[in-house]
Amino acid sequence: MGFITWYICSMINLPIRPRRNRKSAALRSMVAENHLLLSDLIFPMFVVPGENQKIAITSMPGIYRYSLDLLLAEIGECVNLGLSAFALFPALPDSIKDKFATESTNEQGLYLEAIRRIKACYPDIVLMTDVAMDPYSSDGHDGYVEHGEIINDKTLPILAAMAVAQAKAGADILGPSDMMDGRIGYIREALDDAGFTNTSIMAYTAKYASAFYGPFRDALDSAPKFGDKKTYQMNFANSKEALIEADLDVAEGADILMVKPGLPYLDVVKLLADNFQQPIAAYNVSGEYAMVKAAAANGWIDNDKAMIESLVGLKRAGAKIILTYFAKELAIYFKSHQVGAL
Ligand code: PBG
Repeated sequence: MGFITWYICSMINLPIRPRRNRKSAALRSMVAENHLLLSDLIFPMFVVPGENQKIAITSMPGIYRYSLDLLLAEIGECVNLGLSAFALFPALPDSIKDKFATESTNEQGLYLEAIRRIKACYPDIVLMTDVAMDPYSSDGHDGYVEHGEIINDKTLPILAAMAVAQAKAGADILGPSDMMDGRIGYIREALDDAGFTNTSIMAYTAKYASAFYGPFRDALDSAPKFGDKKTYQMNFANSKEALIEADLDVAEGADILMVKPGLPYLDVVKLLADNFQQPIAAYNVSGEYAMVKAAAANGWIDNDKAMIESLVGLKRAGAKIILTYFAKELAIYFKSHQVGAL
């Protein structure tokens, strides 16, 4: 027997052939372990002062900062495409920022007005808001700064006041994104004392000090004015520390636990999904979006395929909820391909 014949014969006794389950699109879809649905997605959006403003964000092609009038129309379009959850971030002029984030509780201010108007127009959507000082802070930090230090316990009352103001304006889910210790419990108590026992909290449980937030900081002009965020956001070398954060957030009353960024932290998504009963969310952040867009614009990768693979990957890791700038694009994809799930 020649070597080739021997080799081929030795290969044919294979009762288990995983390829059988991959032989057609219908079969592949039947055995698919994870699916992506529009109801899994939260679309992060940016609101700016003024009227009739739609300002492109260079580092996030396809994403804009909208004035409230155009934002309402844009949300309407997204709702018609089948999206039902949105996260809102304000981009404010430096002139109204200060050390105490005073603007964050201004009822006539842009953000609280936007929350009220969005919920008045679209009462059925899920509106998530951001609880952190950075959009309003002259220091560009998520916490209160004294002598170049971010002071945890002086930040908590500021966050709590901001949270109650957002709940009062109609927010469905609050997203504390600041990583101060104890903030979930502090905010939960303030909400309950003010009668907002039904307002949910999605904790940014494992938020890492990441280079992937760069385009977002461009969008909001919210980069720290000094230093970095490493004394409060997590070190990307660590995963056990995410369990400490998650234990605290759950004990303090978080309804949903988030990992951020998404793709470089799939192991952390899985770790939390395996160890906690609360729904897990992953934030597919601005830099992850920008990388796909930049490579696709160069013809180096296929935009749609990379988008879908990224988002299904997050679901496979254990995320039930995904915050992603691809949300509208994916909704358009579902519609044009006449599919309800991927
Ligand atoms: C800050 C905040 C950040 C993001 C959401 N909330 C950036 C930061 O921590 O500096 C990043 C989101 C993204 O990059 O898409 N409170």
